[in-house]
Amino acid sequence: MSIRTLILIAAFTVAAHAQDRSAGQRSFESRCAICHGGDGHGTDRAPAIYNKTASRDNQSIANVVRNGLPGGMPAMQIPDAELGDLTAYLRTLQPAVPLGGRPFQRPEVRETITLTDGKTLSGAVVANGLEDHQIRTDDGKIHLLRRVGDRFREVTSTVDWPTFHGDMSGNRYTTMTQITKDNVRNLGAKWIYTIRNAQGLQDTPQVAGGIMYVTNVNTCIALDAGSGRQLWQWSRPTTQGVRGAGSNRGVAVAGDRLFIVTDNAHIVALNRFTGAEVWDTEMADWHQNYGATGAPLAVGNLVIGGITGGEAGTRGFLAAFDQSTGKEVWRFWTVPKAGEPGSETWRGKDIEHGGGPTWITGTYDPQLDTLYWPTGNPAKEYNGDDRKGDNLYTDCLLALDPKTGKLKWYYQFTPHDLSDWDATEIPVLVDANFQGQPRKLLLHADRNGFFYVFDRTNGKLLLAKQFLRELTWASGIGADGRPILNPNQEPTAAGTRVCPSQDGATNFYSPSYIPATGLFYFQTFEKCSIYTKRDIGDWVPGQDYLGGVQRVAPGGKEEHILRAMDINTGTIKWELTETAGANGWGGTISTATGLVFFGEEGGAFAAADATTGKLLWSFQTNQGWKASPMAYMFDGKEYLAVIASGNVIAFGLGE
Ligand code: HEC
Repeated sequence: MSIRTLILIAAFTVAAHAQDRSAGQRSFESRCAICHGGDGHGTDRAPAIYNKTASRDNQSIANVVRNGLPGGMPAMQIPDAELGDLTAYLRTLQPAVPLGGRPFQRPEVRETITLTDGKTLSGAVVANGLEDHQIRTDDGKIHLLRRVGDRFREVTSTVDWPTFHGDMSGNRYTTMTQITKDNVRNLGAKWIYTIRNAQGLQDTPQVAGGIMYVTNVNTCIALDAGSGRQLWQWSRPTTQGVRGAGSNRGVAVAGDRLFIVTDNAHIVALNRFTGAEVWDTEMADWHQNYGATGAPLAVGNLVIGGITGGEAGTRGFLAAFDQSTGKEVWRFWTVPKAGEPGSETWRGKDIEHGGGPTWITGTYDPQLDTLYWPTGNPAKEYNGDDRKGDNLYTDCLLALDPKTGKLKWYYQFTPHDLSDWDATEIPVLVDANFQGQPRKLLLHADRNGFFYVFDRTNGKLLLAKQFLRELTWASGIGADGRPILNPNQEPTAAGTRVCPSQDGATNFYSPSYIPATGLFYFQTFEKCSIYTKRDIGDWVPGQDYLGGVQRVAPGGKEEHILRAMDINTGTIKWELTETAGANGWGGTISTATGLVFFGEEGGAFAAADATTGKLLWSFQTNQGWKASPMAYMFDGKEYLAVIASGNVIAFGLGE
């Protein structure tokens, strides 16, 4: 035997020991095949994975197996040695003849199709059905097609909803006019897409260039916006032990990219045609209780992302990243460090863990080049003994320079908040006549029960009006812009009844505004809480930072009311009281044809006359709302879409 042969045998033995193919196969067949199929080509329980291992390194596969995925992949504890064999085996799984019939992640098949004008298009089949068909051309772009005999018609969207609020102003108002008061009764579901194992989603779907993007925690799914057909999915395991990041509200789209935050406070750029990762930046260390849920906002060449952690005592901030590289460009801390301006509003140790999260997407005025972003509650919650003072910049509206993050002005809605009244309600930018003068306004209905109108050029408060019937903590907003506090409204050991409740008079779900009516439409809760204060120890990573508890006040008449507010006077023009109870978190969208659509307490997606509040149409989903609706035009037809719990539903008019 030559030396060379000896070396070869030795090398083979080592390799065989490190990666035992038959051991890997046994492991796969006993643990994975039940869902992914014996050949890794998928079953009704799980998608194909033979074609997924190339894009994942060993660590990423280990993460998926050990932590699971939100869409139904279970977490499994597998010893290191076995996982090594298993991973090596996974990499040997081969494509086979397409099985057909499965709507997603089929092996790549190439084809050339003929369009109705006789031109041809060649590429990989992404998905197809009886009427719809999608292919990816070699430039990476996806083409959405509809069958016409044996040819195809290319279709797309002509009115998009490319940001969380649809546009930068946050009006949640559509100028499309196909759906009217006269024909709304013919509105029906056009398609449904169910997100696996998902409930209570808070995402507003976004549409750009014919593709709809929907999200769940660490998941983004791209759909054909005309049929709901899945084009691709990006998913990461959820992070075990992360605090306060059990939802995701959407993406920001800019050019060929989209941006999404992860539960562990990263911001990730994806190619919007393939779902491939372009960059990944850690915004903050999740072990320090940071998380992220909000849809980022693309402004200029930056993408702006916020964080969660108001209940977990993080130190809040808002940050901007270069869209092309993911490099951080600026960061605005919502809680100052000791000695910095604003720190005089924090007397006590809680300045270290003061909260002030930034989890709802702000709005932007391109003319004033100003970013408006609201902030959340101070920590610890319910107990202000270690944070005496106003606690800037918690529960604030921040007006920032989007290029530098420099503060232009701010307003604090609830100084020294003890009730968890995040100001994370959407700042709506409106140009309108206000009390006879044309003005650049900012409208904000706050969780604390007051509706505010500002001059957004300088932050001057023009109007503040109570909109709840029962509001106990303040008697009004004074000329100095501060709430006039009522006595004995602080949490105590025995418990204090306070209105509004902790869920708020309103919350993050979307309000909307119609210029023609001058009315602001928003969902409200008539509901009160008993707030109890208790002493707790120091902040601990991995734990919430709550100086008390809250429960719904018994004996109250809880109501969920859609309200229409005259922005000039703060008077309520009409109210639509929904079914009893106040637990539904559905937002609104309004239209140029005088309709307000909203997710109502009883589970229906409904439309009211924007002038009178009369109910004109409803579609019962039998789901609880956590999300806000949006609108777009696809292939010449107006659609409204909303996520009902885990189902994306697109509505359109009958033919
Ligand atoms: C109970 C069913 C089930 C079992 C058992 C299971 N999986 Fe999964 N797996 C899923 C589902 C469902 C998904 C899709 C989840 C999603 O997209 O959120 C998935 C996704 C995956 C993915 C990600 C694919 C991608 O899109 O990149 C990998 C990798 C994976 N599984 C590997 C494994 C391995 C390895 C095993 C065995 C150790 C295994 N799975 C066992 C259900 C299962």
